[in-house]
Amino acid sequence: MRLVHGRRTPCILFMALLLVLSSLPAFAGHSDAPAVKKGILLVAFGTSEPEARVAFDHLGELAAKRFPAVPVRWAYTSNIIRKKIAKQGLMTDSVPVALAKMVEEGFTHIAVQSLHTIPGEEFHEKLLGVVNGFRSLATISVGSPLMTSPQDMETVVKAIQATIPAARKADEVVLLMGHGTHHPGNIYYPGLQWYLSTRAPLVFVGTVEGTPSLDDVLAELEGRKVRKIWLMPLMSVAGDHARNDMAGPEDDSWTSILTAKGYKVESVLKGTAEYDAFASLWIDHLQVAFERLD
Ligand code: CO
Repeated sequence: MRLVHGRRTPCILFMALLLVLSSLPAFAGHSDAPAVKKGILLVAFGTSEPEARVAFDHLGELAAKRFPAVPVRWAYTSNIIRKKIAKQGLMTDSVPVALAKMVEEGFTHIAVQSLHTIPGEEFHEKLLGVVNGFRSLATISVGSPLMTSPQDMETVVKAIQATIPAARKADEVVLLMGHGTHHPGNIYYPGLQWYLSTRAPLVFVGTVEGTPSLDDVLAELEGRKVRKIWLMPLMSVAGDHARNDMAGPEDDSWTSILTAKGYKVESVLKGTAEYDAFASLWIDHLQVAFERLD
């Protein structure tokens, strides 16, 4: 009796130990790697205009619909915007802070989606450059901006055609306001103009800070019998540039300049990300990035 009892005790203890050990992650799986936890980080330039945020909300909704089980986080690349909205009581992380928080939360696989329009400075330096510093901490895959591949250009032209107001007549000009940049990525704007010229007559693209400029577009319009111009932002949100530089009442807004030249002008104050036609392309890029995590 005593002998049996003496043999049983260590046996029960051993089994209890096995039970405890088997519940630890290192013993439960085949390796001691942490459990896979996938997440999405959506990265926009940002906006300080509260009304313009509907565009980002729309993208967030589409991402949640496409990836219902995956947590989605946000970051803004613009320091100025983040400081500005912090004063309104809204906190948004920069890319490094958002990634550090996700690593801290245990995310092992992160799909980072750029919500920029072109691969310019914001994408290359504030997104890609920062992501590269986190590659030893997590598996990270980056989704490209709206216009990156030749196929994207075709999709964007179709999205532009689909979102031009139905009231626009065939002999009326549509002028898209892109941001433009000193970065080599600016080439996507004149690039888009080539696709438009061959596929969408009387649709032009101009930029606030790059090429083509408004003057370039005006030169292009000279000699054509154009009476009316529709202005539409080629930016994810209808923020400060769209509301002021494009449609604002100041003398140097595109609306004022074109009106002074004798054109009838009508503005559409909607960012591209508010339309499914554009937003779904960003989400398609996210899907490519997400599937690359495996
Ligand atoms: Co700007």
